[in-house]
Amino acid sequence: MTQTYFVRPGGVLSGTLSVPGDKSISHRSIMLGAIAEGVTEVTGFLEGEDALATMNAFRAMGVLIEGPNQGRVTIHGVGKYGLKAPARPIDCGNSGTSMRLLSGLLAGQKFAVTLTGDDSLRRRPMARVAKPLQAMGARVETEPGGLPPVRLLPVSRLHGIHYDLPVASAQVKSAVLLAGLYAEGETSVTEQKPARDHTERMLVALGYPVESLGPTTRLSGKGVLRAVPIEVPADISSAAFFMVGASIAPGSDLTLRAVGINPTRTGIIDILRLMGADITLNNQRLAGGEPVADIRVRYAPLQGIVVPEALVPLAIDEFPILFVAAANATGQTVVTGAAELRVKESDRIRVMAEGLQGLAVDATPTSDGMIINGGRPVAGGTVDSHGDHRIAMSFAMAALRADGPITILDCANVATSFPGFSDLAIVAGLSLSAA
Ligand code: S3P
Repeated sequence: MTQTYFVRPGGVLSGTLSVPGDKSISHRSIMLGAIAEGVTEVTGFLEGEDALATMNAFRAMGVLIEGPNQGRVTIHGVGKYGLKAPARPIDCGNSGTSMRLLSGLLAGQKFAVTLTGDDSLRRRPMARVAKPLQAMGARVETEPGGLPPVRLLPVSRLHGIHYDLPVASAQVKSAVLLAGLYAEGETSVTEQKPARDHTERMLVALGYPVESLGPTTRLSGKGVLRAVPIEVPADISSAAFFMVGASIAPGSDLTLRAVGINPTRTGIIDILRLMGADITLNNQRLAGGEPVADIRVRYAPLQGIVVPEALVPLAIDEFPILFVAAANATGQTVVTGAAELRVKESDRIRVMAEGLQGLAVDATPTSDGMIINGGRPVAGGTVDSHGDHRIAMSFAMAALRADGPITILDCANVATSFPGFSDLAIVAGLSLSAA
C-alpha cells in the first residue's frame, strides 16, 4: 500500500485539537500490563501500527488483551513468568521500540523467540541492545552487522550488570532494565544525557521497586508488578507537527489538549521558544504518573539558533519538523550532536536535507546534524518521505508557508504513529488531500 499527500500552499491553524496517545507510553502499557499481576485498564492508547505490533506480540505469547476500542485496552496480566512461547516469529513491523524493548523483556525467558520487522526496521542497529543483554548472560543472536532478525534463545537465568549507556537511547536503557526484571541481583544503568524515562515511571506506578540516583537507575529481579489503571497522555511528538505549523503560519492560534509534558520529552518546546515561538502551557496536571498540559501555540516570527546539544535527546524525534521550523526562521540554525538521527526509521539527516533542498531551502547536512539558512520562501515541489512517518508529516506542515503545492510520496507509514493525521490536519486548517 502506498499513499501520497498533496498539500496546497498556505492556511492558518486554529481551534482546539486532541492528537492521539503517546507511542512510547502505549508500548510500555502493553508490555508491563502483560507481565503484571491483575487486570490493567489502559485509556488513551495509541491505535497506531507500532503499538499494535507490540499488542499482537503479547497476544502471540498467550496474553488476553481486549480492545483497542476508542483508546481503551484491557490487559489480563499473566505475571512475570506467565508468557508462553509464540508459535512463529514476532513481527515488529516498522517499530524499533517494539524490537528493542522486547529484546530486553524476552531475553530472560525459558523459550526461544525471533523478532523481525519490515525493510526499514531490518536495517536498524540492534547490537546496541544485544551487547548489554549478552553481558547479562542472554543468548542473543543477530544477523551480521548487528541487524535484525533478533533471535533470543532460552536461558536458565540472567545476572544483573551495571551498564554505562554509550548512546543517549531510552530504548537501550529500557531493554537493560526490562531484562533486569528477570536477572539475579541488581541491574543498573547510567546515562550520559537524560533520555525519556517512561519505563522507569511506569515500573514505579506498577509498584516495582526502582531506585533513581541522578543519572543512574537501579532495580533488582525480585519485584512484582501489580496492575493499576494507565492513562496515556497525548503524544508530544505528534503535537510537535501542529506546534511548528502554528508557529510558521501567520494568524494561527491553536490549542492541543492534554499533551504529555514529561521533562524528558519537552525539548521541542524549549527549542521552539529559543527560536521565538509563542507557546503557553495551561491546565498543567498529573495523569497516571505523567505530567500533562494543554499547549497553546500562536504564530510568531522565528529566528535561527544554535540548538543546545543538551536538548537534542529531549527532542530526538522532533528534528524533522524542527528542520522545517528552521527553514522558516530568519537566519542560521545549526544542529549538532544528533548523529542518532541517521539510524531512525530513515536517515533523517540525509532524507530531510534532500527534501528541503528540493524545495529550494539552503540546507547542508553534516555528519551529526544540519545547517539551515532560513527565512526565504520554501518552494513547492515533490519530496520523498522514504516511508518515514515523521518526514511525511513534517513536509505536510511545510506547505503552510510554501510558495507552491507540496507533494509527498510514500506516506502510508504515518499510520504507525499518527492514525488520522490527514483528517486532523484538515480540521486544523491544512489544505491536504491523500490518495
Ligand atoms: C523511544 C526512544 C527513542 C525514540 C523512539 C521511541 C522509546 O529512540 O526515537 O521513537 O519509546 O523508548 P532511541 O532510544 O533509539 O533514541
